[in-house]
Amino acid sequence: MIILDVDPGIDDSLAIVLALKSKLDVIALTVSSGNIEVNQGSINAIKACEMAKKDIPVYKGATKPLFKEYVDSQDTHGSDGLSGMYYKVKKEAMDGAIDFILETIKANPYQVTIVAMGPLTNVALAIQKDLETMKQLKELVIMGGAAKIHGNCSPVAEYNFWVDPDAAKQVFEANLPNVTVAGLDVTYDILFSPNMREMVRQFGGELAEYVHNITQFYVDFHWAQERTLGCIINDPLLVAYMIDRSVLEAFDCHIDVETSGICIGESVVAFDIPEAYLPLYPYNAKMCMKVDKTKFFDIFFETIFPEHIEDYRLMKKRGYIL
Ligand code: BDR
Ligand code: CA
Repeated sequence: MIILDVDPGIDDSLAIVLALKSKLDVIALTVSSGNIEVNQGSINAIKACEMAKKDIPVYKGATKPLFKEYVDSQDTHGSDGLSGMYYKVKKEAMDGAIDFILETIKANPYQVTIVAMGPLTNVALAIQKDLETMKQLKELVIMGGAAKIHGNCSPVAEYNFWVDPDAAKQVFEANLPNVTVAGLDVTYDILFSPNMREMVRQFGGELAEYVHNITQFYVDFHWAQERTLGCIINDPLLVAYMIDRSVLEAFDCHIDVETSGICIGESVVAFDIPEAYLPLYPYNAKMCMKVDKTKFFDIFFETIFPEHIEDYRLMKKRGYIL
């Protein structure tokens, strides 16, 4: 069973839709302040559930990082976190994300996987409250960090770790079993291109319109910021990995996170650690460094738009996409 911990967020919303339209056993969403503050993020999470036609519980968690001043990413995701669409939704999120996480693990030891696609504040708070229970997670899969590639908040820092570096550091220091991290090293390859976006628009229908609309601000940001045509959709890559492990290749590493100074938010990642250093730097995670982008997009489009599989394959064959 899977809990998606999110901060929707444009790419989080796509990840939620992908997960809920797949066969994954997603039991709930927990939300923290990240791309947008937690109340609006929860509305956006509920909207994604509605678009996937799945009614699952949504719990609100952390309103701000552990210590650092909170910085949202309205500049990247729009004033509501979803390109300014300000969707209305049919229900309200509940409070109590941290307790929900801990109670669910207690009731189902070694069966719960958290896929964390926002700042790690909720996960860190759960660790602070009950480390022993968190050690009974089946898996923790994290979107964050940048091992050998430049960051998106500074030359060295990726947003999820940068916005709450203390939470990220605490999570890795907890030495939880089965932690896998997919950061910018692999997500930078996941470009939702203008042709893909146009293909989705041509599919037509409510869900296609939603995907097209919520990515507008993201596309404009990518052009303004780095002259990228299209947008990088980070978070759905982790969901695709849950669906098919061959999408990503992960390597044992030791991860620590810088919490102050010029490198704040940097993920410091060591691979192939010599035995003599292992007592100091034990392997505490696996970091994804290789990605099968074609497999990702096959999963993404064929799961979200199953009625358009033939169209997708034709567009691929004709070289319009991929
Ligand atoms: C991460 O930060 C957020 O902007 C995205 O939702 C993603 O989780 C990428 O750095
Ligand atoms: Ca996110």
